[in-house]
Amino acid sequence: MKLLNSEKLPRHLAIIMDGNGRWARSRMLRRIVGHRQGVETVRTIVEECSTIGVSYLTLFAFSAENWLRPKAEVTALMSLLKKYIELEVPRMMNNNIRFNVIGNRSDLPPHINKAVDEAIRITSGNTGMVLTLALSYGSRQEIAAAARRLAGDVAAGRISEDEIDERLFSGYLFTAEMPDPDLLIRTSGEMRISNFLLWQLAYTELYFVDINWPEFGVRELHQALADYQARERRFGRTSDQLQAGS
Ligand code: FPP
Repeated sequence: MKLLNSEKLPRHLAIIMDGNGRWARSRMLRRIVGHRQGVETVRTIVEECSTIGVSYLTLFAFSAENWLRPKAEVTALMSLLKKYIELEVPRMMNNNIRFNVIGNRSDLPPHINKAVDEAIRITSGNTGMVLTLALSYGSRQEIAAAARRLAGDVAAGRISEDEIDERLFSGYLFTAEMPDPDLLIRTSGEMRISNFLLWQLAYTELYFVDINWPEFGVRELHQALADYQARERRFGRTSDQLQAGS
């Protein structure tokens, strides 16, 4: 932690965990072995973020588009997810972590939803870091669903058209209860957002790192955080205005 200023950590860190398949392929291993190794990285990063004082950690674990992968890989990923959620609950309790899921829950198999509900219930009283897994998540789908619900509320007279602004709209998203991410990390060298938190990332600092997720460790996390801390977040203002505190 020597490099880091604990006062300037991102309050909300979002991560696109990419490169499990490439990590495995480069070792002549099956893709699922890469995902398994990826789970180990998840454990390490969750624990470290909670220890250093990140308030919200959101991990892109399974996208709405990932259903198109070969059936065997989807099944294996679902079973890894279930195992992770069940095994981690005691550790979440020890670390005061509150578990949360965003995404289209109705697409998930019942056994996953059961494990998710259970973990959410058991950890609901925890007051430390909020760990959110994005499962069957797609940002455009999220925005379209929010627009649909909002339109329903307008049609029913619960909300008037004039009341619609950014804040109100945000309240219809899965992330209604969370601040926007301050920092997004994507591993594996790809420089894309891939339909992740499109609305919420409007002012987020982006960090792309050329290392596959199974090899991303505490040192790499600290490097990303140090890089973030060296940036000036202007939110459309000038540097001079920021320095003058306006
Ligand atoms: C990207 O690697 C990773 C995923 C699609 C899934 C991420 C899943 C895990 C890290 C494991 C399960 C997660 C949890 C939270 C227990 P890729 O397969 O797209 O890699 P590639 O681009 O190199 O093929």
